[in-house]
Amino acid sequence: MWMSTFARFALPALRSRTSAVACQALRAGRRPGQVADPLPSCLTSLQLRGQKTLVSTSVPVASQSVRHARALEEARMVEVEWDDGGTSLYPFTWLRDNCQCPLCTLQSAQARQLLMCDLDIHTGIDSVEVINDNKVSVVWPDQHTSVFDSEWLRRRCFSTGARESLQEELFLNDRYYFDSKLSIPTGSFEEVLHDDEAALAWLLALRRVGIVCLKGAPRERGQVARLAERIGYLRLTFYGHTWQVQDKNQANNLAYTSKRLSLHTDYPALHFSPGVQFVHCISQAAEGGESEVVDGFHMVELLQREDPEAYRTLTSTQVDFTDMGRDYCDFLLQSKKYLIDVDCKGRVQRINFNNATRDSVLDLPVHQVQPFYRAMKLFCDIMSRPENVVDYKMEPGDIATFDNWRLLHGRRSYVTRPDCSRHLEGAYLDWDEVMSRLRLLRNSVHKHT
Ligand SMILES: [Fe+2]
Ligand SMILES: [Zn+2]
Repeated sequence: MWMSTFARFALPALRSRTSAVACQALRAGRRPGQVADPLPSCLTSLQLRGQKTLVSTSVPVASQSVRHARALEEARMVEVEWDDGGTSLYPFTWLRDNCQCPLCTLQSAQARQLLMCDLDIHTGIDSVEVINDNKVSVVWPDQHTSVFDSEWLRRRCFSTGARESLQEELFLNDRYYFDSKLSIPTGSFEEVLHDDEAALAWLLALRRVGIVCLKGAPRERGQVARLAERIGYLRLTFYGHTWQVQDKNQANNLAYTSKRLSLHTDYPALHFSPGVQFVHCISQAAEGGESEVVDGFHMVELLQREDPEAYRTLTSTQVDFTDMGRDYCDFLLQSKKYLIDVDCKGRVQRINFNNATRDSVLDLPVHQVQPFYRAMKLFCDIMSRPENVVDYKMEPGDIATFDNWRLLHGRRSYVTRPDCSRHLEGAYLDWDEVMSRLRLLRNSVHKHT
């Protein structure tokens, strides 16, 4: 019955606040600044094996030749006119700063070696012309020459649409929000380890949906480490390189008991909490131990809609977290976090919520304490509604991989029996490493398709 929660190789239609934007970002060949048509089918066509739909989430820049380039002296910009009639503007200062020649750029690292002290931010330009092979050549007043490839320039067009497309290609920040109706996407552990397309589809779904269950892992320790090595490396914390979730005597974490764990994110006691979590089910309890997850970003959207004041409280009140004990070594952590992190544009970035490690120290004026509890309680009430929670029970050999900055997860209490003990092995990674592997896989898979 629990397994009906999983959908092998296919996702159901998922609601997305930003689905139109996501679809636009999936669309190939957009002209800089041009608004794209939505792709209504893209939300239902995400697949995990050998499919091209999700694999093509990068935004290939339509090859365009440069028709003309000229300097706009007054604006101090170079205007490039493309073959399709569109134009792009590039400030002189930015062009000089990003000269790609071997003097200005260390070729082996693709890193800028031009120093700020040598950059004249008021530079003029001597001449600009289109040269063979579709490149734009700029001669500066000191006769230094910069040659820019047209595709390189086009990717970096400053129009709003082009910048949005490139940012989406680089960071994949448009997510598919889900509720209890989600069928958790699944993939094969072995395929993900050995097949680049499967690995790419896994990581794309992990980013877009927030959770993927990999099936068929050997029922022994060490598999989450193998999976982490497929990406790069895992993240060491005070609970070790990997950690064993079992009912332990003198548990140094609530997870290491057989008690219920309410919905939480892991490790808000670290100022930079782990971005991604792998949990491998080596053996499962016969009774209890079911897992639950909820889409925290979606819950924030609901909170903001239902009670803007509570949303403001949770995005602006710093909460203390603490964690102490001994594991990899002894530790005594303190942190201050907003329960909901938003960026400068008001977009949710991360949920930091763990009732077990939320400190009794509460650094608030006394009259703000009750409003804070009201907001926190409401957020928990929303995330606990049956229509928002996805229930499932892991089977031995399953590895749940999920976004620890976005999803909250919990488990039901379970019964420990000598003949049937529950054992999960977990590991953390950070999103930088996961996104790095995702970009590399996307590039290599694209090259071969
Ligand atoms: Fe956890
Ligand atoms: Zn140069």
